[in-house]
Order: sequence, then C-alpha cells, then structure tokens
Amino acid sequence: MRKILVTGGAGFIGSNFVHHLILNTDYLVTVLDKLTYAANPRSLESLPHNRVRLVVGDICDAAVVDPLVAETDIVVHFAAESHNDNSLHDPRPFLDTNIVGTYTLIEAARRYSTRFHHVSTDEVYGDLELGDPQRFTEDTPYNPSSPYSSTKAGSDLLVKAWIRSFGLQATISNCSNNYGPYQHVEKFIPRQITNILDGVRPKLYGSGANVRDWIHADDHSSAVLRIIERGRIGETYLIGADGEMSNRDVVSLILKALDQPKDAFDLVADRPGHDLRYAIDSSKLRAELEWVPAYGRFEEGLEAAVEWYRSNEDWWRPQKQATEAKYQEQGQ
Ligand code: NAD
Ligand code: DAU
Repeated sequence: MRKILVTGGAGFIGSNFVHHLILNTDYLVTVLDKLTYAANPRSLESLPHNRVRLVVGDICDAAVVDPLVAETDIVVHFAAESHNDNSLHDPRPFLDTNIVGTYTLIEAARRYSTRFHHVSTDEVYGDLELGDPQRFTEDTPYNPSSPYSSTKAGSDLLVKAWIRSFGLQATISNCSNNYGPYQHVEKFIPRQITNILDGVRPKLYGSGANVRDWIHADDHSSAVLRIIERGRIGETYLIGADGEMSNRDVVSLILKALDQPKDAFDLVADRPGHDLRYAIDSSKLRAELEWVPAYGRFEEGLEAAVEWYRSNEDWWRPQKQATEAKYQEQGQ
C-alpha cells in the first residue's frame, strides 16, 4: 500500500484531509504533528488505527523528520502557524515553523527523492480592492501583508528554489479561506458561532466590509488529492470555489442560522494591516486537472458548519475560554 506523510494532520485542514484520504483512497497515513495549541488529536480519533498513525514531533527537527520522509512515498505539508492575529503579537513561531520547518522537510525530501506537496495560502499575493473585477491567478506577483503571510510566501519561495536548483519533485497549492468541521475557535467563523452559542454577540473587525473567498475544507482536500495524483511537477495551482462574501454578510448568515436578530453583532478594533479582499481564479486547476468543488452554495455549507459546532461542543469547549481571554487582551 502507498504511504503518505501528512504534516499538521491534527490541525483543521490537515485532519479534514486525513478523513478525505481514508474515505477516498487506500493510503497508509502517518501524521506528523507537534500538537501545538491549534491541534486537536480528537479530530482523528474516529479513524481506523490500522490506516492512521500519529507521530508527535516538530517539523523543524531533522532527527524526527528524516526517517519519516525516508519511509514514505509522498509528503503533504500542512503544518504551520496559521493565524494572522497571533503573528501580529508574536511572529517568532511563524518564522520557526513556516520557514525553518519547511526547509527541514524539503531537505529531507531532496535527500530521499520523495514526492512533496506544499500547502499554501492565497494571502501570499496580498489583497485586492473591494469591487475590483480582478482575482488572483498563478501569475499574480507575491506581496504579503502580515508576518503570517510573509512567512508562508517565504516557504513557497524555498520550495520553488528547491524545485529549480535541486530538481525537487514538488507541487504547490495556494488556497483561499477554509471553513468546516474541526476548525479552531480562534478563526472567524467558529469564533462567531461559538460566541452566539455562549450568548455573546459576534465581533466584526473594523467595518466588517472585508471580503474573503470561502471554500469548504473537504473541497480543499479533494483539490490537493487531485494535484498529488495528476498535477505536473514544478507547478503551482490556485484552489478556490467562487465563495466571495463580506465578513458582515457571513455574520448575518450565522445569526440567521442561530435564530438571532440580524443586527446582533459588535464592531471592534480592526486588525493592523487588515487585507481588504481575497479572490481566487481557479481556472488552471479546473481546466488542467478537471477538478470541481462538491459543495455548491456557501450558505448550505455554512449551515452544516453551524450544526457541527452546535453538536460538538465537547470538541471546542476546552479551547474557548483561553481563546477569548487572548482576544480580550487585544481589545477584540
Ligand atoms: P491549523 O493551525 O489549524 O493547524 C496547523 C497544525 O500544524 C496544528 O495541528 C499544529 O499542531 C501543527 N504544527 C504547528 N507547528 C508545527 C511544527 N513545528 N511541527 C509539527 N506540527 C506543527 O492550520 P490550518 O488552518 O489547518 O492550515 C493548514 C495549512 O493550510 C497551513 O499551511 C496554512 O497556511 C494553509 N492554509 C490554510 C487556510 C485556512 O483557511 N485555514 C487556507 C489556505 C491555506
Ligand atoms: O486566505 C487564506 C487564509 O485564511 C489562511 O492562510 C489563514 O491560515 C486563515 O487563518 C485565513 O486567514 P484570515 O485572516 O482571512 O482568517 P480569519 O479567520 O482570522 O479572519 C477572517 C476574516 O474575519 C478577516 O477579514 C478578519 C475577520 N475577523 C476575524 C476574527 C477572528 C473578524 O471580523 N472578527 C473576528 O473575530
């Protein structure tokens, strides 16, 4: 059986990807995860133990990484420090994990000639104006805004350099904002859902006009799977599902799904350097690899996510208080 190493597989998208692999492939999965505050090993507990193994370790540690890369057929690299707000308060872990961690993995992949897929973000391209018809494509110049996005941009550039200089057998994907089950309550959608469930009003940064391009995490997973199976080595693919919506409109939908008045939200301090709008043109992935998202309307996927958080309080409750305490310190 084919072996796959999934870094960050106890986090939000990584765990959704492991679920997707178990349902749709016969891979034997090894998850390498440091189990930071962002991880929740419970996200993997329903999966068959004969197909999924969790190794707790740091991607910056070559002694851990090397033997795992040596024994696998492919590495899919999700592990990262992923939250913009955290990166504005303490950038250092972002440099360590996103830059040094990626470097450690690609050095191992080079040593053992292992196929490598690097998971990245549309935030490397900076932001777009509201109402601009333009969307990001694979040719958009890099222009990251935050410590988080600049370290992800740096990690992309390392992978590109290793492809060109050392012939690394790698692909890269840059995806837009994900939502779905197993997402940490620090992120926008789960934070607002769980706030309302706790009787607290949703909190919108600034005016709430910022636009994100939402995709269900399972659609991100199917796209990554398609790229590792059919993508051309050395290529970058943008992943998106045409889900542009303002933060204010997302909050309105969440309030509606939870039977709350439509104006029951608060405007709070804006994020410094807050990117205005992201929008993905995923034509290359759709035309070349014949990928289509399975989740049609964002509204339906969002209602399912609301239901998931309502039914899985034992999954998110342990993180909620500490997360909100951190936001309160920041005035958000
Ligand atoms: P997450 O924060 O939910 O999960 C990250 C996981 O990585 C956690 O399980 C954490 O324990 C692990 N990790 C962190 N540092 C590590 C280290 N040094 N060694 C080993 N494991 C470590 O993140 P996510 O939202 O699931 O994002 C996963 C990837 O997808 C990231 O690379 C992110 O940049 C990218 N991405 C995210 C989104 C999004 O909307 N969330 C969109 C596009 C791309
Ligand atoms: O675009 C892909 C990126 O999407 C990923 O690379 C990141 O890992 C992921 O965290 C996400 O980044 P964002 O900064 O867009 O996501 P976040 O959930 O933090 O915020 C989404 C939007 O909601 C953003 O405009 C900020 C706003 N926001 C966020 C929070 C937590 C609020 O208005 N209120 C909030 O309480």
